Amino acid sequence: MNYFVVYISPAGTTQHAARVISSELNGLGKTCSTLDFGDRACMKLLDAALPAFAHNSCLFIGSPVYASHAVPVVMDFIARLHQGNGCCSVPFVTWGTVTSGVALADMGGALAAKGYPAIAAAKIVAEHSLLWQSANPLGKGRPDADDDRSIRDMVKKVVAALDAGSAKHVSAATLNYQPEPLRKVMAGLVLSAVRKVLPQISLKRDLCNLCGDCVAACPAEAVELADGPVFKDCCIACYNCLRACPEHALQADFTKMEAGLAQRVKDFGEICETVVYLP
Ligand SMILES: Cc1cc2nc3c(=O)[nH]c(=O)nc-3n(C[C@H](O)[C@H](O)[C@H](O)COP(=O)(O)O)c2cc1C
Repeated sequence: MNYFVVYISPAGTTQHAARVISSELNGLGKTCSTLDFGDRACMKLLDAALPAFAHNSCLFIGSPVYASHAVPVVMDFIARLHQGNGCCSVPFVTWGTVTSGVALADMGGALAAKGYPAIAAAKIVAEHSLLWQSANPLGKGRPDADDDRSIRDMVKKVVAALDAGSAKHVSAATLNYQPEPLRKVMAGLVLSAVRKVLPQISLKRDLCNLCGDCVAACPAEAVELADGPVFKDCCIACYNCLRACPEHALQADFTKMEAGLAQRVKDFGEICETVVYLP
């Protein structure tokens, strides 16, 4: 079995989970290859790597939850996978305590259709990446040591089942855990529309020195430099550009964000815990 760990992680939490997975795999004597969708050098190798994923591989695939879904680049990657032969997957998401939405259901369904059925999955509680300026962000300090232990236990079980040839599939119903009618509401959210109601980024033209740090920081290749940064439609609203700008030329007003998200935590009522799904 070939092990791969692929992910996108604008704010670093999904990368943390991916590293816990890789280190546990290595500790169990399994080598694994890692692909970060936010890393341009890695992405240049993607087309060449696609055939390697398709035979006897176990694909750990990670995304943050954005607007109740996996980030589009992750779903695009799944769509590009070659049909798997003797393959399986372990989708995992990090979520900022508002809701894990339908991300695992989306990923699990798309992976199964490509011949990479899920043999485990995880939703991992994380600090909410839209609240990085807050003193007390939702999910502060998560994932913590207990969350990491849950991830490690999952990897141990996955490897033991694959080594024993006894791996079973996690059912679609298991990953489709949101109650109706919330599930339908979540499924209907589209990041490109949600982006319009998130704090809008404005450019202080006089502060921008065209250094290009915003372009380099964008994991979605959505920023181009013209007479200042220009944002393409593939922007995922991670705000990495704004965080990276050394001149504070990119600005957005997050003052209402905390109260709005706290209300959504109540509306969704999802228990704030890391959960591993096994067959
Ligand atoms: C645009 C955007 C939308 C988000 N939507 C959700 C959401 O629907 N539910 C949630 O619990 N967290 C949400 N979050 C928080 C992230 O899922 C969470 O912080 C995640 O761990 C970030 O992963 P990263 O550190 O790998 O980027 C959102 C964050 C951003 C930037």
